[in-house]
Amino acid sequence: MSEGVGGPGFVTERGSFRAEHVADQNAERQAFVLDQIAGRPAVRALKAWALEQVAPAAGETAVDVGSGTGEDVLALATYGAHAIGVEPSPGLRAEAARRAAATQAGRAGGVEFVEGRAEGLPFGDGAVDVVRCERVLQHVDEPGDAVREMARVLRPGGRVVLIDTDWGTAIIHPADPDVLRRMLGYFRDQTANPYSGRRLREVLTDAGFEITGETAATWIEPQEGATTGFVGMMHTTAARAGAITEDEAAAFTKTLSDAAERGAFHMSLTMYAVSARKP
Ligand SMILES: C[S@@+](CC[C@H](N)C(=O)[O-])C[C@H]1O[C@@H](n2cnc3c(N)ncnc32)[C@H](O)[C@@H]1O
Repeated sequence: MSEGVGGPGFVTERGSFRAEHVADQNAERQAFVLDQIAGRPAVRALKAWALEQVAPAAGETAVDVGSGTGEDVLALATYGAHAIGVEPSPGLRAEAARRAAATQAGRAGGVEFVEGRAEGLPFGDGAVDVVRCERVLQHVDEPGDAVREMARVLRPGGRVVLIDTDWGTAIIHPADPDVLRRMLGYFRDQTANPYSGRRLREVLTDAGFEITGETAATWIEPQEGATTGFVGMMHTTAARAGAITEDEAAAFTKTLSDAAERGAFHMSLTMYAVSARKP
């Protein structure tokens, strides 16, 4: 796995995609990281599943909340839907629009990227047929409010699909359990809603949706990920923040690199997807 998926990318996905940070981020770097993450088999599988669940009919209005590079907006447009990406980052909106302009749907005006946040969608009541929202709710302080907002803009019979990571499923082996607990605890504390994955059903049912499907996919880091990317840098970040000592950081990374040398390193993380219908 490349450095972009892991290292700063992984940290960026977890820590810096919150709406209040996005304007300050380098959109080119963010887009690179999102492209790398989108290439993971587990992510591809969930994106494909999500699209099947909500499959817009031609002419329907389909919205992707937190649309990033716009890849999923273009996918919605291939169904002949009027596809709209809602994205707070001006840089990512511009990048998504640039990519869309190179596609037939984009040139035909079937694709749009608008400024907005999950907590306040720029649509009238019942104006939308389909909503998808992927790896965004983990960055939202009040995910219930965001999902109620999705319910507001969907028409009766409208479909929604949510995808998110659950940081409680992160496994790193081998590692000192106490050091690992403090490190993962530190990173979880940096995320607004780190257990988002397990809460998807809850936020949907609480908002009045009827669940129509659910699935999960686990991403497994290759051996080189022990020393590169997020895992390869998390010990320095955690030590700098005071969550672990410098000695513990050095021992953590040595244990992992030794394990990887003999092919014994393991890191995995599970993502969940739930689809639902507005009654
Ligand atoms: C991890 S990225 C996922 C992007 C895209 N959904 C995908 O699957 O590639 C999170 C995205 O959510 C956006 N975002 C952050 N806070 C948001 C909020 N409150 N409402 C809507 N989008 C938000 C970020 O700018 C970023 O594009």
